[in-house]
Amino acid sequence: MNKTILITGGAGFIGSHVVRLFVEKYPDYLIVNLDKLTYAGNLENLRDIDQKENYRFEKGDIEDAGFLSTLFEKYAFDGVIHLAAESHVDRSITDPLAFVRTNVLGTVNLLNTARTAWAGNFEGKRFYHVSTDEVYGELHDPEEFFVEDTAYDPRSPYSASKASSDHFVRAYYSTYGLPVVISNCSNNYGPNHFPEKLIPLMINNIKNKKPLPVYGKGENVRDWLYVLDHARAIDMIYHGAALGETYNIGGNNEWKNLDLVHLLCDVMDKKLGREPGESRELITFVKDRAGHDLRYAIDASKLMNDLGWAPSVTFEEGLEKTVEWYLQNWNWIEHVTSGEYQKYYQEMYS
Ligand code: NAD
Ligand code: DAU
Repeated sequence: MNKTILITGGAGFIGSHVVRLFVEKYPDYLIVNLDKLTYAGNLENLRDIDQKENYRFEKGDIEDAGFLSTLFEKYAFDGVIHLAAESHVDRSITDPLAFVRTNVLGTVNLLNTARTAWAGNFEGKRFYHVSTDEVYGELHDPEEFFVEDTAYDPRSPYSASKASSDHFVRAYYSTYGLPVVISNCSNNYGPNHFPEKLIPLMINNIKNKKPLPVYGKGENVRDWLYVLDHARAIDMIYHGAALGETYNIGGNNEWKNLDLVHLLCDVMDKKLGREPGESRELITFVKDRAGHDLRYAIDASKLMNDLGWAPSVTFEEGLEKTVEWYLQNWNWIEHVTSGEYQKYYQEMYS
């Protein structure tokens, strides 16, 4: 194999799409997927590629420094693409320390291990940290966008933990010369998205005719990007970015939550052969999220100009593909909501 790359969090939503893209596009790379298989990790996401010769799965915890150094000895990685994280804002509000452990301590462990394993010889090496636009806080002025040098202003325990990890990654670049790159992306959607997040939760509830919980008045705005376009950006940045660089990734596709839920209801009503407007009746306004960020919006022009990235699908196309994927793969969501996905793989890798 030409290169050996460690992808952390590859059993999760975005990680599984990144793993598949790399395994299929680079048959001469060995791709090692390290994942703890928390509630968010699901190896069913990778069933179609898990027998490929250039793919390995390793169950493990990035909080465990001893495990990481053994893994680096075993594989002599050329690069790391780090996605493993606790990723859900609502969970960070109820259990902030879990986010400190995985997102901060876990990232620092990984940085330390890479630095030690590469022992100052960074030729051909790369540590890519995948982060979020939430580190920039919230926007109020509708004309304003997050750019790469927008000041950090995290407002939830999740975004504070991701901001902290970003700072550590940059500190390892300036202090030790570790060859790092970072990207900060907006909200992703697409197949294999865990149904605690807005879009898959609404798809699941609409199908099952359950209430659709909209936080507050549904006025918060998110900038949605199809997950495969994030994976394509990660590929371009991993291979093309200068060391120490940061890139923002976003869809230039802002939606108020309530408008998005209306759209999902209408698309699902059509697909399920329901009366127009039927699913909108399920919308229920619930208590707002504490510290709920008002608006995120990314300016991705640096990535577009430097590396030639552009989204490959419109939101209409991406949403159509996503809804269709859930309806065609309903057993995926049933395994997730029943917990069956965990029993099977936890036993296999215990
Ligand atoms: P996810 O929650 O779907 O997946 C996270 C994965 O990390 C899971 O497979 C989980 O098992 C694994 N993991 C968690 N703790 C671990 C640990 N201690 N050791 C090893 N593995 C562990 O997350 P996602 O939505 O796919 O997000 C992936 C990354 O992208 C995260 O770093 C997140 O901050 C970032 N991000 C996400 C979005 C989004 O919209 N989902 C947008 C921008 C950036
Ligand atoms: O911006 C990137 C971030 O996007 C990622 O870093 C996070 O990992 C990812 O989870 C996502 O964070 P959000 O908090 O924006 O996503 P979520 O799907 O949880 O919520 C989207 C919006 O919908 C948000 O304004 C809260 C609202 N919401 C969410 C849920 C789950 C509701 O109104 N009702 C709900 O039931």
